[in-house]
Amino acid sequence: MDLTHRPRRLRQDRVRGLVSETSLEPTDLIAPVFVDATTDERVPIESMPGHERVPIDEAVARVEDVLETGVEAVMLFGIPESKDPEGTRAWADDGVIQEALRRITSETDAYVITDVCLCEYTDHGHCGPLEEELRSEGGVAEDDPGCEPTLTVDNDATLEALEKIVTSHARAGADMVAPSGMMDGMVGTIREALDDAGYEHVPIMSYAAKYESAFYGPFRDAADGAPSFGNRRHYQMDPANTREALREVRLDAEQGADVMMVKPALPYLDIVSAVRREFDHPVAAYNVSGEYAMLHAAAEKGWLDLEEVALESLLSIKRAGADLILTYFAEDVAQRLPVGR
Ligand code: PBG
Repeated sequence: MDLTHRPRRLRQDRVRGLVSETSLEPTDLIAPVFVDATTDERVPIESMPGHERVPIDEAVARVEDVLETGVEAVMLFGIPESKDPEGTRAWADDGVIQEALRRITSETDAYVITDVCLCEYTDHGHCGPLEEELRSEGGVAEDDPGCEPTLTVDNDATLEALEKIVTSHARAGADMVAPSGMMDGMVGTIREALDDAGYEHVPIMSYAAKYESAFYGPFRDAADGAPSFGNRRHYQMDPANTREALREVRLDAEQGADVMMVKPALPYLDIVSAVRREFDHPVAAYNVSGEYAMLHAAAEKGWLDLEEVALESLLSIKRAGADLILTYFAEDVAQRLPVGR
């Protein structure tokens, strides 16, 4: 055959690495860590094999294990000792995250990012205090005698809580804060609160395009943050929408977000790539609990090779345009990098 183009020439073993377009480094990865104030012992998270909630006393040891794999950053989630309708333990200076932060930042070199949200701290499990809202099928709710009041998250009251949370995190040593509640104006409010308190150097990674996703199921078990009624579709985004994601990212850019996150990752790679194309901010993607759990479940059945699919997933997320990946696979994959391919 007289073929001019033979792409297979560049797929031979010794040249593959030279022409590879995407790489994955341990420093691209951020490992989520769950700190639990309700326990003195590590508690395995059933739906996320290999992950545990650790007591405050073991937070440092847990982070040291992460650092050993080459991963340099962690994202902290807290499970408080008690919950109330306002989520007041989220901004307590002796709260679970604040306590863990002080220890981790004084005893390790980890770069510590904190998830900033109220859903683990409110007794109803929503991402902020609730208010009654009148809803009607058609027309103005107040004019409809049959209209039932429903509960929704009070956006502006939540912003006031977020100010208190981020300043308490910064005081306790947070290197970066990551608001995940999808409240309107959250980035601007947080930027101002941090700046006013003298933390202009603390960056914000915004969960800018966070979808109302069923892939968060295992996390909600892990962090005990499932809503006790309803769902989060009044604040998280509709999976049907792309332009809305770009609008959310644009608003966060205007309000001073430093890093833009898309969440979940694998079912939303088109969004990751659109954000990468349209903006010049670093893009993070959150490879969420359900993405992790489904690969584990399939591997357990012997249907998939876990190590291979984990690596391929993370590489694909980078190829789509993510600079950073939050993933429960961080430690497992980092230990196997770099990979010869
Ligand atoms: C808190 C928060 C959630 C996740 C990260 N931060 C849960 C949610 O929005 O219900 C999900 C992470 C995962 O599934 O791995 N707002």
